[in-house]
Amino acid sequence: MKKLKNYSVWFCAVLLLLSSCSRAQISMSEEKEMPKDKNILIVYVSRTKNTKTIAGIIHQNIGGTLVELELQNPYPEDYKAIVDQVAKENETNFLPPLKTNIDNIDKYDVIFLGFPTWGMQLPPPHEKFFKPK
Ligand SMILES: Cc1cc2nc3c(=O)[nH]c(=O)nc-3n(C[C@H](O)[C@H](O)[C@H](O)COP(=O)(O)O)c2cc1C
Repeated sequence: MKKLKNYSVWFCAVLLLLSSCSRAQISMSEEKEMPKDKNILIVYVSRTKNTKTIAGIIHQNIGGTLVELELQNPYPEDYKAIVDQVAKENETNFLPPLKTNIDNIDKYDVIFLGFPTWGMQLPPPHEKFFKPK
């Protein structure tokens, strides 16, 4: 779990870096490459596809398994409704059951976690990912 949190920080840093550049360009060739023998997992939550886009760029560049966290009961489409529901979940520490199941998470050497800020914190689906039981 400590490993997951470390990579979460790394992925957040990538997102912050990209969001701070109005014309962000990714040049992975200039960066240190990910060793080819590493098993990589990219897990994200995204409603309006910003995080999904970044997760897709990372996936295109380094490969691995790309997974969107989906809920058993999807959030409402309406913005106010989802904001209210997430606020209530945060207040009551409710973690929504996930439809997505990742088998043998231990087999991954590197895990990227991508998520938007919801209610100034981690979205409940990602919290559930950290605490599956
Ligand atoms: C339920 C909910 C809560 C949000 N709370 C915040 C917030 O506290 N602060 C913020 O800057 N943006 C907040 N947003 C906006 C999203 O973080 C922002 O639109 C983000 O770019 C969406 O990423 P996505 O396209 O990957 O879903 C919230 C959005 C939703 C749906």
